[in-house]
Amino acid sequence: MHILHVVGARPNFMKAAPVLRALAACGLRQTLVHTGQHYDASMSEVFFKQLGMPQPDVNLGVGSGSHASQTAEILARFEKIVLERQPDVVVVYGDVNSTVAAALVCSKLGIKVAHVEAGLRSRDRSMPEEVNRLVTDQLSDWLFTPSPDGDENLRREGIAPEKIFCVGNVMIDTLVRLLPLAVPPQGLPARYALVTLHRPSNVDDPAWLKSLLGALGDVAEHLPVVFPAHPRTLQRLQAMGIDAATSARLILLEPQPYLQFLALQRDAVLVMSDSGGVQEETTYLGVPCLTVRENTERPITVNLGTNRLVGRNLQALRESVAEVLAGRWRAAQAIPLWDGRAAERIAAVLQSSVV
Ligand code: UD1
Repeated sequence: MHILHVVGARPNFMKAAPVLRALAACGLRQTLVHTGQHYDASMSEVFFKQLGMPQPDVNLGVGSGSHASQTAEILARFEKIVLERQPDVVVVYGDVNSTVAAALVCSKLGIKVAHVEAGLRSRDRSMPEEVNRLVTDQLSDWLFTPSPDGDENLRREGIAPEKIFCVGNVMIDTLVRLLPLAVPPQGLPARYALVTLHRPSNVDDPAWLKSLLGALGDVAEHLPVVFPAHPRTLQRLQAMGIDAATSARLILLEPQPYLQFLALQRDAVLVMSDSGGVQEETTYLGVPCLTVRENTERPITVNLGTNRLVGRNLQALRESVAEVLAGRWRAAQAIPLWDGRAAERIAAVLQSSVV
C-alpha cells in the first residue's frame, strides 16, 4: 500500500509528523508532498527539523495568493503528482487551503482520502477554514476525529457512521513526545502573558486591531505581554504604521519554532489567541486560554479545558485576565484520547481497511 501525505501550512506539520512515524513503523510506503502554502523558513523548514520529519519528496511551491488562486494552483500542480505517483490513499490534515485542494483533486481521480482532524465545526462560514472543513469532510473516505463532538457533527451532515473514527488528537501526540525538549527563547521575563493573532477577523480590520492592541497594552501594565507575530499580522501592523512594541508595550517576537513556542505556552501565566491549535495545547498544558473569537470549532476545550471565548468583548478580556491573576480559573479535565497515541490508532485503521 502506498500512502501519500499532503501538508502545506504551519499547523499541518505537527499533525502529520506522528502519522508519518506511525505508518513508517508499519513498514508502509509513503510519499510526502508539501504544497508550499507556507514557505518562509520560520513557518516551515524549522518545523520539519524540530519535528524530525522527512524532507518532502515534492514541493509544489505554490506560495501566497488570494484564496481562489492559491487553491487553484494547488489543484493544478497536485493533480500531476497524483497521476505520476499513483497512491492508494492520500492523507490530508486540518482545515487549510492545501487540505481542501488535495481532497478535491483525489475525489475527481477516484483516489481514496483520509482526513485527519475531521468533524470540527465553528458554524461560521465567514471563516475560510470552516468552508475547507465542510468540503473536505464530504469528500473523505476515512474521517479521523479528535473528539466525540466531531463524530456528532459528521453524522448530522449525513456522513456514513462506518467512515468515522474517533481517534483522539494527533497534535497532542507531538506535544507529548516533544514537551521534554521544549526550550523557551532567551531573555524573557519569568511571568508573562502570551499572545498570538493572525485571523482575518482580528488583523484585517484596522480599527478593531487598534482597540485590541490597546487592551493588550492595558494587560501589559500588570503582566508583560509576549507576542510572536505571524507574517500576515506583521504586514498589517506595518501597513497601519503601528509599532506594536512601543505603542502597546508588547514584547514582539518573530514567529517561533515549535519547541520554543511550546515552552512559551507551558510557562505562560495565560494565553490570548485566535489560533485553533493553541486552544487545544493550552487545555492539555492546563494554562488559561482566552480565545479572541466569537466561536470555536473546538468546544471541548471550553467545556472540559481551560479555554474561554471572549469574542470581541474587550471588557470580557480584561475581566478574564483579572480572574486569572486572582487565581480564579477552572482547572482542565483530561480529555479522552488526547494521550499521545492518536496516530497509532489512525495507522491501525488504515492498515486494516486498505487491502
Ligand atoms: C493559514 C491557514 C490558517 C492557519 C494559518 C496558520 C488557510 C485558509 N489558512 O493562514 O487556517 O491557521 O495558516 O499559520 O489555509 N506569509 C508569509 N510567509 C509564509 C506564509 C505566508 O509571509 O511562509 C504571508 C503572506 O503574505 C500571505 C499571508 O501570510 O499572503 C497569509 O498566508 P496564507 O497561507 O494565505 O494564510 P495564513 O494566514 O497563514
